[in-house]
Amino acid sequence: MNLKEIKIKAKNEIVKARSLKELNEIYKKYLGKKREITRIFSSLKKLSEGERKKLGKEANLVKREVEEMIKEKSKQLQEKLRKQKIEKEKIDVTRPGKKLEVGHLHPLTHVQREVLEIFQSMGFSVVLGPELETEWYNFDALNIPKDHPARDMWDTFWLQPESQMSNVKSQKFLLRTHTSPVQIRYMEKHNPPLRIVVPGRCFRHEATDASHEIQFYQLEGLMVDENVSAANFRAVIEEFLRRFFKTPIEIRLRPSYFPFTEPSFEVDVRREKEKWIEMMGAGMVHPKVFEAAGLNPKEWQGFAFGVGLDRLAMLRYKINDIRLFYSGDLRFLNQF
Ligand code: FA5
Repeated sequence: MNLKEIKIKAKNEIVKARSLKELNEIYKKYLGKKREITRIFSSLKKLSEGERKKLGKEANLVKREVEEMIKEKSKQLQEKLRKQKIEKEKIDVTRPGKKLEVGHLHPLTHVQREVLEIFQSMGFSVVLGPELETEWYNFDALNIPKDHPARDMWDTFWLQPESQMSNVKSQKFLLRTHTSPVQIRYMEKHNPPLRIVVPGRCFRHEATDASHEIQFYQLEGLMVDENVSAANFRAVIEEFLRRFFKTPIEIRLRPSYFPFTEPSFEVDVRREKEKWIEMMGAGMVHPKVFEAAGLNPKEWQGFAFGVGLDRLAMLRYKINDIRLFYSGDLRFLNQF
């Protein structure tokens, strides 16, 4: 190839180069050691002085021109790269932001808060108790002695003896089957008159179905004074249910049996002629319970009740399966 051809070919390739890498290859090809133009310089020595000068000058010129073209192209390519980078990093401040998922309260939390508010407005204080209970508080103190058939009403999750604390070996531990043990715990420490509600989780070792879970929530209520009657209970509970459901509902009190109340009732609730739902157990505090808590049954009277918060929520939101509350299914939970 002569110098003219070299120049034309190099120019063509430089124009077509799309990256700095390609351009670098072209540089090496034409200006690198042992390459096109360089080769011409090394052939000069074979020529006569006159020719050498002429060709040498021309070769130098072509070399500079090619160098210049490469330099120019390199600038263009770098500028293009810079623009691409800026384009990529540009922040479009007018684009809508990403929507953050906001969490919300569980339906049972909604119900619990609302229920507590209603009772607090009627003068009841909110009290909490342990979910891990002793046999004494969950059963014995509530007049449910060992080997008594009534104990079978509450299928129990017992703790393995080895998991118990060594200093209380004589006590058997369990997951509380109801919130009633907090009645005893509270009366041991507080003198009447008293009015408390106790929300909390309960556990029962039983088969689950649409209205029974092995873990559920109860709200215990206890009112003790010198002259508390079943009529007071009815008035309080009717007022509560009226305020909670807001729509007309029917209440039915059925005689029942609990070892810690006498007389005992079961309260069923229904709305709009639908089926009755067993909502709570209740009754007048049994003298044995006052005694176990260190109070004189001749001085004090009281009513107590244990209402299922899950069942209240089911009726309120028209949910027909309690298991949905604990399913963690977002299609269900996102509706609240
Ligand atoms: C009791 O637990 C008594 N402690 C209630 C009580 C308190 C009576 C004070 C007298 C005085 P019972 O086992 O019936 O009673 O349960 C009370 C309520 O808890 C039921 O009406 C129901 O609403 C709810 N409940 C009971 N078991 C389950 C369960 N497995 N799943 C969901 N809710 C339940």
